[in-house]
Amino acid sequence: MALTGPMQYLKRKFRSDSLKESLKGRLTKDGIRLYEPGDFAGMHAAGALAARILDDIAPHVFPGQTTEEIDRLITDMVEAAGATSATIGYKGYQHASCISVNHVVCHGIPGPKTLKDGDILNIDVTVIVDGWYGDTSRMYVAGKLPRKAERLIQVTHDALIKGIEMVKPGNTFGDIGHAIQAYVEAHRMSVVRDFCGHGLGQVFHAPPNVLHYGRPGTGAVLEEGMFFTIEPMVNLGRPETKTLADEWTAVTRDKSLSAQFEHSVGVTADGVDIFTLSPGGKFHPTY
Ligand code: MF3
Ligand code: CO
Ligand code: CO
Repeated sequence: MALTGPMQYLKRKFRSDSLKESLKGRLTKDGIRLYEPGDFAGMHAAGALAARILDDIAPHVFPGQTTEEIDRLITDMVEAAGATSATIGYKGYQHASCISVNHVVCHGIPGPKTLKDGDILNIDVTVIVDGWYGDTSRMYVAGKLPRKAERLIQVTHDALIKGIEMVKPGNTFGDIGHAIQAYVEAHRMSVVRDFCGHGLGQVFHAPPNVLHYGRPGTGAVLEEGMFFTIEPMVNLGRPETKTLADEWTAVTRDKSLSAQFEHSVGVTADGVDIFTLSPGGKFHPTY
């Protein structure tokens, strides 16, 4: 997630990573890079690996497991694939995944605490394959999924899909944000404002900021060759977050449960190409 709104001024972690990189190739007037048709293959390779790692980690999530053990397994999977973790060493971050449990919104740091029955968690993995970035996250449950959490996870997943359905040339980023926000609020849940999706490709975080709320017809117009993430964070309670003293872990201020799903996508001539589809069809909490 990139930081948006007031957070952007508090901390500049995810301002566009490398100006030089994002100046390569064709750029729109909004500074969004337009990739070439031949670049989609690289994104598919990276996206598929990130998604496969999220498939393969599922059996390792259970009550009594630690999040640092999950992260260790992910580190090994990245290495075994001959790929590179995009997050190890990224702005001081030291792990191959972010693992965000219960009221942690995003950027949870893997650690020695054990999961308990009914905990819900987001696991977020970004890998680099031949210079291309694949960034995806989904929700998991340790043990039995509580009913309230199940609703939150379902709405968050479906909100991401609503956003993805708006991806085609001529629509705007506001259309994506609006579709997500309208869906989430219709279910009386809230969209986190402090973090957003981001352009990616041969860099991790690039323009634009992909907001998960907004008004139809506003924002930059989508064009063929744009690559970006959509990664809504949804809270059962209020949308406000705060970042803990470790300077990474973002939690809901009201301690309500939070969920998130993330895909990396590309705009095609007539729609969307999802780079991070689950090879095993497991992009869902019930797996
Ligand atoms: N994968 C996260 C995203 O969706 C970013 C994690 S950066 C880290 O953008 F340094 F916290 F790992
Ligand atoms: Co992302
Ligand atoms: Co991510």
